[in-house]
Amino acid sequence: MPVSVGVPNEVTQGERRVALTPDVAARLIKKGCQIVVERGAGLAASFVDAAYQATGCTLGDRSAALSADVVATVGGVADDDLAVLKSGGVLLGMLNPLDDPETVERLASCGAMVIAMEMVPRITRAQKMDALSAMSTVAGYKAVLMAADVLPKFFPLLTTAAGTVRPAKVLILGAGVAGLQALATARRLGGVTSAYDIRPAAREQVESVGAAFIELELDTADSEDKGGYAKALEEDKQKRQIELLAEHIAQQDVVITTALIPGRPAPLLITKEGVEGMRPGSVIVDLAAPNGGNCALTQKGETVSHNGVSIIGPMNLPAEMPLHASQMYARTVAALITEYLTEDGFALNFDDEIVQGAVVAHGGEVTNERVKGKLAEAA
Ligand code: NAI
Repeated sequence: MPVSVGVPNEVTQGERRVALTPDVAARLIKKGCQIVVERGAGLAASFVDAAYQATGCTLGDRSAALSADVVATVGGVADDDLAVLKSGGVLLGMLNPLDDPETVERLASCGAMVIAMEMVPRITRAQKMDALSAMSTVAGYKAVLMAADVLPKFFPLLTTAAGTVRPAKVLILGAGVAGLQALATARRLGGVTSAYDIRPAAREQVESVGAAFIELELDTADSEDKGGYAKALEEDKQKRQIELLAEHIAQQDVVITTALIPGRPAPLLITKEGVEGMRPGSVIVDLAAPNGGNCALTQKGETVSHNGVSIIGPMNLPAEMPLHASQMYARTVAALITEYLTEDGFALNFDDEIVQGAVVAHGGEVTNERVKGKLAEAA
């Protein structure tokens, strides 16, 4: 029996991405899968039903998509959908399991195997399934465009008959995937770019995209864990970091913050006083808004103004660029499905490091230790 993959409409407010695009669905069909797309699922991302039909997908109603062997989503399904999911089937999506473990518990209750795409470990073999990095690339790019839109200035240096315009100064705090993409984008627009990160290894990457690396008088040599992620700073170092950064922040037109410690609230990098040190008209885009923000004044999903400084706290930037975000996400989903397709169907091997990381629930229970820990903390 061929493995069926269902693509339902997304249920989260404001979500415009779709989990599989017609071209990526075609690749899975070539591998022997059957794709069932709920009518209209790709519309908000500019993929019409006819485009899916043209690449060999079947169109159906919601229950047809939900009763597939593997249900591919961007952000999970609604409570009412759980009864329709196949017990023993697979549900995958970006489920935010460490910040919202209750949703995983709710999804687990239907007996399906639940895969959280953001839990795919960032190891070389899993690079093609790294949905988090793909979406951070979109977010880093879009954050700069948002800043440019709100900034009452040009980004590039201009020499005109009406005089010379100095280029915008853009600082990126946190030079991971989103930060590096933001640096590259700001430079393409003509901004003068610099960045700071606590991981010393970030310097080389920052310089490779033409930006200056800011060195603080702060020892962060041991700030990287085995997985290449940052560790939280001790309290006194964090305080010192904020003070040292404030001098640099005050000179910028745009600051984009992306600092993240996985599974923890976002570290505070800009205090209220830090914002007050900036020139009116300056802009902060806080990509860490969903995790509480790197700026003390960030409001989730809002743009606020303080002393003339705009502080933007976007919650779902990939949904603002849904065509390419869907295409990139779909490739990571298809890579994961393809990796575990066998002659007997979709079969996950629990000795596999990727499976161990990404499967957060099966057999009706939450199985991932980190998610279980978060549930215990919340109880
Ligand atoms: P990443 O893990 O690749 O990068 C985060 C960087 O922050 C790392 O390089 C880390 O060393 C650095 N960092 C951690 N603590 C720091 C500190 N105290 N000072 C300076 N740097 C510090 O993460 P990625 O994928 O680039 O994501 C960045 C952020 O963007 C995350 O918070 C993520 O949730 C968010 N994001 C937000 C979206 C939105 O729409 N708001 C969409 C996609 C991602």
